[in-house]
Amino acid sequence: MNTENKYQKSIDCLNDAIGKEIATSLQYMYFHVHLEDAGYKYLASYFRKVSIEEMRHIEEFSERIMFLEGDVDMNPAFETRRITDIADMLRFAIKVEQNTIDTYNAAAKTTAEINDTVTHHIFQQVTQCEEQHLDNFRIELQNITDYGKNYLALQSIGHSKEIAKK
Ligand SMILES: [Fe+2]
Ligand SMILES: [Fe+2]
Repeated sequence: MNTENKYQKSIDCLNDAIGKEIATSLQYMYFHVHLEDAGYKYLASYFRKVSIEEMRHIEEFSERIMFLEGDVDMNPAFETRRITDIADMLRFAIKVEQNTIDTYNAAAKTTAEINDTVTHHIFQQVTQCEEQHLDNFRIELQNITDYGKNYLALQSIGHSKEIAKK
């Protein structure tokens, strides 16, 4: 670790964030392929979309680290969980997003304190995106709770519609 770098705290926050983003992106891709395989078209597509968004966050954080003359720790913060129940997937996704939001809010504060306004701004922006994920996952879980089998049937119909178009 380069202790000479006056932006070391920012670099540490960014690397911590990268670990979360990598793990989250992989977890959502795992959910995507399982849902796709089971024919749950809409939710499968949404997890794929979010997985790619998390991947873009890795790039954004990494570029900032390079600018600050640090090095990127490109490793996942946690191992992918083998969760295959849809409600459990959403519960886990909600937990991950909430944890990420808390961490990024703290990182936004830390980076503001050392007057690194650009990194501060990046954390603010990415947090907004994570809140959108959280909001959507909550709605999906609520739909499962409210509509149960009907919700899952709708997901399957989505798949049938899709293959009929091909
Ligand atoms: Fe993210
Ligand atoms: Fe997210």
